Amino acid sequence: MRSTLPLHGLSAEAVTEELMRTKSNDVDWRSGRTNLYVQFGGDDVLDVAKRAAHLYFSENAHGVAAFPSVARLQQDVLDWMLGLVGAGPFADGCFAASGSESILVSLKAARDWARQRRPDIGVPKIVVPQSAHPAFDKAAGILDLEVVRTPLHADYRADVAAMEARICSRTIMVVGSAPQFGHGVVDPIEEIAALGVHHNLWVHVDACIGALIAPFARKAGATVPAFDFGVEGVRSISADLHKYGFAAKGASVALFRHRCWRPSYAFEFDDWPIGSYGSVGLAGTRSAAPIAAAWAVMRYLGEEGYTRIAAEILEISRRLRTGLEAVDGVTLVGAPDLPVIAWRAPGLPIQRVAEAMTAKGWFVRPMARPQAIHMGMITLHQGPVVEAYTADVAEVIAALHQTERAEGGQE
Ligand SMILES: Cc1ncc(COP(=O)(O)O)c(C=O)c1O
Repeated sequence: MRSTLPLHGLSAEAVTEELMRTKSNDVDWRSGRTNLYVQFGGDDVLDVAKRAAHLYFSENAHGVAAFPSVARLQQDVLDWMLGLVGAGPFADGCFAASGSESILVSLKAARDWARQRRPDIGVPKIVVPQSAHPAFDKAAGILDLEVVRTPLHADYRADVAAMEARICSRTIMVVGSAPQFGHGVVDPIEEIAALGVHHNLWVHVDACIGALIAPFARKAGATVPAFDFGVEGVRSISADLHKYGFAAKGASVALFRHRCWRPSYAFEFDDWPIGSYGSVGLAGTRSAAPIAAAWAVMRYLGEEGYTRIAAEILEISRRLRTGLEAVDGVTLVGAPDLPVIAWRAPGLPIQRVAEAMTAKGWFVRPMARPQAIHMGMITLHQGPVVEAYTADVAEVIAALHQTERAEGGQE
């Protein structure tokens, strides 16, 4: 039944109490019971983000004339992000509320670019590896583009030959991820970009996950394949501050190799009573809070702070992988370049594994290809629960195999 707005209000205390009650059945992410949906860079980082968001709670990023400080914070974050992804002097970008929005803005720029050159193109196509985030299909639906998804290699990276085979006269864009969400591998961006250059296509790199961990993971000793503007041909990059940037949710950027594409994401209009209107990115009114939080966390951590956290995350990820590998009946999915983990339980229906882990209080999500438990992005709140998690995995797998044997259902 639809609820109606109550006639009488409540006291502020009562409202907070009701909220606390309402959220009491949500997963307790702080205890490390889920690594999906929340990325955690430490209590100090969270505190910095919250304080900044609080300070800018009411300010509107659409009104930078009234709030010039927001314009400055935004520009700082964009500049810092452009620096991290090896952008040259003519690069530019805009803020977005999510990775999906950054992807949408990038696709729009690619579509406008293609339409300018070939107004008769019809419905343009974009070629993406099977592993690309659904945000590409969502954006394509809005922008009237057709998505062609191509197979992956056995190591889950994009098969560039398969991508090339699907290029046709209507193709405008090729995409790679750094890394992709499913298996954590970075696509062969250099090959994808070379393909783009060869066929004169727009090359987009989805670095929503990687942009704010890859540079620091490298400093911490990890090897991460090249994926940014240092790769010739890459024209746009989507990068999330609210993932490995540890900013408040609602902070992402779309970055462009050249500011000449700005008209695609900076909107101007004057044919209405108010006269001149302008906005950058998709939204009009936008909360300044996520921008301020992103700025504050980046300023607080600096390169050193991010590198320290990246090193800690890599270590947690290593401990998790080692722990899972030691479990009889568990195999890891692929060899991720960055700390995204998925594990399989060959011979067991993954849904039953997920249910058993859920019964032990973990928030888990099975993935489809391959059938596995997708742990997603590892961050600091997993550190204290690595042993508890792997112990529960071991118990669940052993118990399920026993049940399967008893039911005579083992393959
Ligand atoms: C690789 C990748 N791209 C894009 C997105 C979409 O980001 P958002 O959920 O912020 O829209 C995600 C989300 O997990 C992702 O992992």
